[in-house]
Amino acid sequence: MGCALKNGIVYQIYPKSFCDSNGDGIGDIEGIISKLDYIKELGADAIWVSPMYPSPGYDNGYDISDYESIDPSYGSMRDFERLIEEVHARSMRLIIDLVVNHSSDEHPWFLEAKSDRNSPKRDYYIWKEAKESGAAPNNWGALFGGSAWTFEEASKQYYLGLFSSKQPDLNWANPQLRQEVYAMMRRWLDMGVDGFRMDVISLIAKPADMEDGEIGQNGFHDPRTRAAANPKMNEYIKEMRSEVFEGREVITIGEASGTSLEGALILAAQDGSQLDMVFQFEHMDIDGGETFKWNDCAISISKLKNVMAKWQQGMHGKAHNALFWNNHDQPRMVSRLGNEGSLREASAKMLAACLHMLEGTVFIYQGEELGMTSMKFDSVEQLRDSESINAFEKYTSSGEISKSDMLRFISLKSRDCARSPMQWSSEYNAGFSSGMPWMDINQNYSEINAQEQLSRDDSVFSFYKELIKLRKKYDVIKNGEFELYMPGDENVFAYFRKNEDSILYVCCNFSRNEIDFSVPEEFRNKAAVLLKNYENSTYTESGKLAPFETVIMLSHNVSGGE
Ligand code: GLC
Ligand code: CA
Repeated sequence: MGCALKNGIVYQIYPKSFCDSNGDGIGDIEGIISKLDYIKELGADAIWVSPMYPSPGYDNGYDISDYESIDPSYGSMRDFERLIEEVHARSMRLIIDLVVNHSSDEHPWFLEAKSDRNSPKRDYYIWKEAKESGAAPNNWGALFGGSAWTFEEASKQYYLGLFSSKQPDLNWANPQLRQEVYAMMRRWLDMGVDGFRMDVISLIAKPADMEDGEIGQNGFHDPRTRAAANPKMNEYIKEMRSEVFEGREVITIGEASGTSLEGALILAAQDGSQLDMVFQFEHMDIDGGETFKWNDCAISISKLKNVMAKWQQGMHGKAHNALFWNNHDQPRMVSRLGNEGSLREASAKMLAACLHMLEGTVFIYQGEELGMTSMKFDSVEQLRDSESINAFEKYTSSGEISKSDMLRFISLKSRDCARSPMQWSSEYNAGFSSGMPWMDINQNYSEINAQEQLSRDDSVFSFYKELIKLRKKYDVIKNGEFELYMPGDENVFAYFRKNEDSILYVCCNFSRNEIDFSVPEEFRNKAAVLLKNYENSTYTESGKLAPFETVIMLSHNVSGGE
């Protein structure tokens, strides 16, 4: 794999909200280049930029109408080439998004496919006859609402879109389509791109049968788990390896929604036969409920611990984890599990410690390193995300959820929570743009911003830097075995990492209260505290953890000596 990344740090940029250089309210490549020193200062080894290809923008760029260019709102191809150079000049790598489960319905392939049943492009997508009644071929639902099938008037067939009708699924069973994708990937690599974050790659091979399935909360069947379990996908990935990655050093990260641990062990196997690492989402879905995520269910700490333990232990020595608390699809973790008030910084640091001391490659989503909080919404006009807007309409029009509750749930769970512009300074528009931002800026920017964070050595930003340094320094963080300490405790997530010569102890209080929590035997008196988030911590002597306190300790095994 891109070996350097095995213990590395990837910084995720959501370009539309990162930094706007020309005042049109939309972040751009020039803006990214102007902040590369900032990302380097944090300690990142690589940058993953969410899609910047031309797109109608129904899903903010995850609906691509041209795989070969840069959307003019972000800049030109020349700007992109300069971005590659500037990233490399700082010894970092550039990872781009590969979105090939689906294209936009405005991609020329689809325009041609839908206008002519006999076009060779027709089979690049998935078409089915209507049922005799005229109804859709089966009961599958689209993630952003409604049926996964859309009737296309001109050619009188339905096409499949697992996300939305604006994102028709590509037909990976067609070898010519696959060759087009591989050729496109090679062109980006030839330009100097270092790797791909592969959007919902687990879904590219559709379920072997296209039968009806069990109906879920939204009135449709969710075919994603079945799709993710289709072994055809692994064949396509192996083919991609030999067609695209052979003879090059490419970083490959699969977004594997719906993938089980068993599936991930194959897809991210350490033998390098498929992908370097996968994102799994089990820990993100713990607070789901009857109405999908539109509720105020909270994450249970004991469940979270068990899910994390299952993946840490299950993957150890066999496959590679991609670790994350945040991305552009999730509300911010500091708001979800931490605290937005006076304990914001303490809780942001505790969450970071908990994640960074695990085995895997750590992903940091823009603003996370500042302790940025989830954006809140008091009107539907402020929303930009199609998933949230569609859900608002669906649940409020059926009367199932009131408007005010729905806005509250959206402020807790929406993808837009993490998409508000990056808070650079306390100046106009948080220093993000001199114009009218495409999305509202969180008004807490006067307090929470990069400029302020960089000015203090006890800031969240500084704490992230420390964690990153620890990862580089200690082998036990890279390869130690994971073991939960006091697994039954409902408030504290504590664990060990053990290798031949040391034991790392990571203790994280997820509660806003002071908690009694015994110090493990081998850490009483003799262990070194590597990092903590309370200057005056008394934990090692008193066994008391302050609200959201975290302590990281290292002890050398007797055999390893001091
Ligand atoms: C992935 C992306 C998400 C997008 C979806 C469809 O989950 O992260 O933002 O909407 O795929 O492309
Ligand atoms: Ca701009």
